[in-house]
Amino acid sequence: MTIPAYKNPILPVTERIEDLLGRMTLEEKAGQLNQWFNLGPDHYDQVRRGEIGSGLMANSSTAGNNRQERVFAKLVNEIQKIAVTESRLGIPLIFGRDVIHGYRTVAPIPLGMAATWSPELIQAANTIAAKEARADGIHWGFSPMLDIARDPRWGRVAEGFGEDPFLAGKLAAAAVRGFQGNDQDAIPQKFPADRIVACAKHFVGYGAAEGGRDYNTTEITRQTLHNIYLAPFKAAIKSGCGTVMSAFHDIGGIPLSAHRYLLNDVLKEQWGFGGFVVSDWGAVGELINHGIAADGNHAAGLACNAGVDMDMCTMVYLQNLPDLVRAGKVSEARLNDAVARILRIKFAVGLFESPYADPNASQAIHLLPESLAAMRRLAASSMVLLKNNGILPLCSDKLTICLSGPLADQRQALLGCWTPDGQEEEVTTLKEAIAGRLGPEAWLHHCELSDDAVKLARSSDVLILALGESAGRSGEDNCTATIDLPAGQEALVESARRMEIPIVAVVFGGRPLNLSRVTDWADAVLFAWHPGITGGLGVADVLFGDVNPSGRLPITFPRSSGQIPLYYNHRPTGRPAPANSRRHSRYVDSLDSPLFPFGFGLSYTTFEYGNLRTAPAPQKPEISVTVEVTNTGNRAGTTIAQCYVRDIVASVARPVRELKGFERVSLAAGETKTIMFRLGPEELSYQDDNGNDVLEPGRFQVWVGGDSNAELGTEFEITL
Ligand code: GLC
Repeated sequence: MTIPAYKNPILPVTERIEDLLGRMTLEEKAGQLNQWFNLGPDHYDQVRRGEIGSGLMANSSTAGNNRQERVFAKLVNEIQKIAVTESRLGIPLIFGRDVIHGYRTVAPIPLGMAATWSPELIQAANTIAAKEARADGIHWGFSPMLDIARDPRWGRVAEGFGEDPFLAGKLAAAAVRGFQGNDQDAIPQKFPADRIVACAKHFVGYGAAEGGRDYNTTEITRQTLHNIYLAPFKAAIKSGCGTVMSAFHDIGGIPLSAHRYLLNDVLKEQWGFGGFVVSDWGAVGELINHGIAADGNHAAGLACNAGVDMDMCTMVYLQNLPDLVRAGKVSEARLNDAVARILRIKFAVGLFESPYADPNASQAIHLLPESLAAMRRLAASSMVLLKNNGILPLCSDKLTICLSGPLADQRQALLGCWTPDGQEEEVTTLKEAIAGRLGPEAWLHHCELSDDAVKLARSSDVLILALGESAGRSGEDNCTATIDLPAGQEALVESARRMEIPIVAVVFGGRPLNLSRVTDWADAVLFAWHPGITGGLGVADVLFGDVNPSGRLPITFPRSSGQIPLYYNHRPTGRPAPANSRRHSRYVDSLDSPLFPFGFGLSYTTFEYGNLRTAPAPQKPEISVTVEVTNTGNRAGTTIAQCYVRDIVASVARPVRELKGFERVSLAAGETKTIMFRLGPEELSYQDDNGNDVLEPGRFQVWVGGDSNAELGTEFEITL
């Protein structure tokens, strides 16, 4: 008996898709575009009728459930068996899940990962996450989140790579490759069997929500869209990202899930994106709330014609697309295009040949010692030393430490905001990490800083205060009106000063926090983000000097909430800010500068930059910038050399500085290395309102240094 072409693995995928499309009814086509969540026996009949094309594993696999019972692979197999053996065409489902920062071996939050400025470390972390998720039967991760964020009141700043499009773009490419395992710049014909499909989200501009309030409206010009918010998505698509998720919000009154210019004209036509677009949860139905759709039928037509291929969890595609096609309101060609995009990814994942998961695979893949070690290195590399008067690193033998503060022995906070598969009991807290290192002979007092603890603390050599915010104060729908520390924590630090012993503040958080007073009062401040399952160990590795901190801020830390939005790559205005002058964009009750600038971070050694030179490349608009970096301290360390550029005169006002190159440089004490940045059309162009690269001749400035305030610089000329 000949098998149907679409089931023949030796035929080209395009032929298999064409054959399948030719066999499908309109209802079955609409079913492929329909994703539902937590599929179970109640949905079996719909799966049999081909009305569901994808399952979203939303429930927690662990919290409250016995891990052995709740093994996703078993659930996937139960449902997949019905789809493959009991539906008319046997099209397998693709299963997606929020694999945001690690899976079972939970990594630091993405904002913390960004602080490593290391594409390599992020690619490695996402490879671990992909293998753990795929072993559990998950085919598709709703990650990386690429929303540029300039407002730390927004809870989801934790999930992205910070404020800069260049840094976020480099990390986006690495994140996609880590998940998908592809090594070429296109969606792979075949994903490796132990990887998952990535999803660049939330397309696009979600981080510009007014007031930092989640889901809120945005006003983004085309200039800012193309030069800031779209940049990391373009990098992800160029790296072969298989899917994109359309966001909840509107830009200037057009909701993203009905935004034809961005979903179709830019993403699919201008960039040539060949994967599929899934809406965010409910976003198609929410077009009614936005006030641009009268009902589900209207919403389905708007979203499908704009370019949303899969409807996440509203059923309005399933319920309406067949009639919309029959009524000519959605062309069958558009419906077929959406189905073809989804089938292309399903074929690439290998679902038609291998639809089932191995329910026993996860035991051999989850929480491997080498995975835990990798996350510990990543966590330590993500931490940013903001202040150190020399108290750090601590010498661990015979040290008496008083450890206090609300996050000293906290587990959930270290896991961070998106970890449905992390287990609190698998987290090493800061207290456990320090106790494990000091050993029984040393003294570790873990105490509340009540009065009777004062003498206890006074008898210690150092007071470590674990401060910051819980994971529940971060992430989706967890926005804060201020970025102040939670109530009582500043008072805690102020009272600790009475003890007249050195204070080391370790701050955990999912966003930049107002550390103005903590930085005044403490002798050292280490920002640890929400550092994941090995976060306590990573902090101890830094505090005791096993790791020389190399983290650099991927986002500006304001002095106060009142300064927000505050970001380094701002435009000059007609009255650029000479220090302490009047008549420029400023506040009379605050310094203009941030508390800590983008790119900032200290080390246990010191670095100097010198001998900056530029040289034009022969016959092309390119300049090479070389600089010497010297470790001027007495111990080895790693710094992030950062290259910033300004286009001094252009057809549109350009930012006062833009990151256009960075390099991790590891140096022994006293060692000097010469590094080079090449600045060509890609780095020196800007995007016009239609997303076209524009390189204009003229003068540019370039600086190289350890953060966005780098002073070592020069000018150069580009001629065309
Ligand atoms: C959520 C989030 C999105 C997530 C999706 C599926 O509301 O906005 O980031 O991937 O729904 O859980």
